[in-house]
Amino acid sequence: MSALPMVVPEPGLPTAVTIYEVGARDGLQNEKALVPVEVKEEFVRRLLAAGLPLVEATSFVHPTWVPQLADAAELMTRLGEVGRDLPVLVPNERGLDRALELGLRHVAIFGSATETFARKNLNRSFDEQFAMFEPTVARAREAGLDVRAYVSMCFGDPWEGAVPVDQVVAAGVRLLDLGASQLSLGDTIGVGTAGHVTALVAAFTAAGVTPDRLALHFHDTYGQALSNVQAGLRAGVTTYDASAGGLGGCPYAESATGNLATEDLVWFLTGLGIEHGVDLTSLVATSTWMAGHLGRPSPSAVVRALGG
Ligand code: HMG
Ligand code: MG
Repeated sequence: MSALPMVVPEPGLPTAVTIYEVGARDGLQNEKALVPVEVKEEFVRRLLAAGLPLVEATSFVHPTWVPQLADAAELMTRLGEVGRDLPVLVPNERGLDRALELGLRHVAIFGSATETFARKNLNRSFDEQFAMFEPTVARAREAGLDVRAYVSMCFGDPWEGAVPVDQVVAAGVRLLDLGASQLSLGDTIGVGTAGHVTALVAAFTAAGVTPDRLALHFHDTYGQALSNVQAGLRAGVTTYDASAGGLGGCPYAESATGNLATEDLVWFLTGLGIEHGVDLTSLVATSTWMAGHLGRPSPSAVVRALGG
């Protein structure tokens, strides 16, 4: 069997996309057994070697909140100069300070579209989260860093249920207004469907946030992630978050399962003739290697089909 699909473009779609790899952060943050730092370092280096242009490496969050990533400083130190341009999550000024001490140049804040998840994930009310982010982003920008902003629970929330599109847009615009360069719209629990994606991107456009400032971040809980990517492509979004091997979940959102697998995304984009720059064979080898470390097979259909 071919290791690549036949290429049949769909007219009107973007000709190239950027894959923003979150496997080392979103993928590993939920793992109960601690993954040794040298394995994380090799994972990041292999993801970069596979051609992924943006590899989010870790989080500078409170170590008791996410024990798996308590080794963030050690990982970034081991990565050295290679690590300086890799994005890392910072929730607040303390996290930013830790990133600045290491000379990192790209951070990401992460907000919530809902009150309940803001409290559960950040220990802040919906409004208080922006007060926490404001000085964080301002200081990051003053120091010359690039800042990405995530917004979670854009398509549904396990505690609050449906999340109105207008509420998501309002939260996203507030995050961008703080000075973030890009907004990643998170379907944290994977409940979104294609029409919802179309409506959300259109609502952002109507609010003055064009698709070039958006990224889409899908979890594949209900198997909708690639259909949602297709809706995003048709709406003109050209950055997609994905996790090698489909690792992932959020420790503070119980119903969150793995992210869209990067291999599944690469197969899909390749078939559409959309440039992404990633070598699928080395990516599958990396996810197969990581699955061996984690002691269970990858949930990615493409890794299962090609990985042996
Ligand atoms: P808090 O307990 O309210 O913190 O937690 P605080 O500000 O009250 O500070 C308490 C103590 O923690 C202080 O120490 C601080 O210095 C320290 P003390 O003075 O008592 O000795 N502290 C820190 N230490 C190290 N690093 C820090 C830090 N901040 C404070 N950054 C906090 C608030 C935001 C820190 C906490 O809630 C937290 O760490 N949350 C992170 C949760 C998380 O990582 N969730 C997963 C990522 S989000 C996600 O996965 C979704 C996404 O993928 C998109 C999607 O799918 O939707 C992005
Ligand atoms: Mg996520």
